Amino acid sequence: MGIDPYERNWIVVGVGILVLFMAGITIAGFALGYQLPGPEGRVDPQTVLSEGPFAEPGVRQISDDRFEAYVVARQFLYDPNVIEIPAGATIDIFVTSPDVQHGFKVTDTNINMQIVPGQISKLSFTFDEVGEYPIICHEYCGLGHAAMFGTVRVVPPTDFEGASS
Ligand code: CUA
Repeated sequence: MGIDPYERNWIVVGVGILVLFMAGITIAGFALGYQLPGPEGRVDPQTVLSEGPFAEPGVRQISDDRFEAYVVARQFLYDPNVIEIPAGATIDIFVTSPDVQHGFKVTDTNINMQIVPGQISKLSFTFDEVGEYPIICHEYCGLGHAAMFGTVRVVPPTDFEGASS
């Protein structure tokens, strides 16, 4: 009892596509550094602005080259709107939303998150190059969606004057 050649060919195609996709995911994850924002925790959208770390959004310095930012994404702005760090620093960015779903994409990096009310999204990145990196909201969030953006400003370490909230 053999396999019909027509069926066998389609099995080969099907398995081939699976192998191709697995290779693509492996290369994206390990060679290109694609990362998924982990669900870092949950918050109550009703109280997130009045208690906990998002009550005072901003950038905090953890050590010489380590920072963390707590960012509130809401209609239609990011708070803080500008994240400033020195070149070479690694930053953990925590984002949540008190209203609707937003996006948080930092241009020219692999930071790309969906911001869901009630959930904290977190990604980390090391900014080695001085420059301005626009933050873009890429989830339609209402009439002001197109005007919702922010900036990561990476300055030479000698120009850095400290983390500001
Ligand atoms: Cu926020 Cu689109």
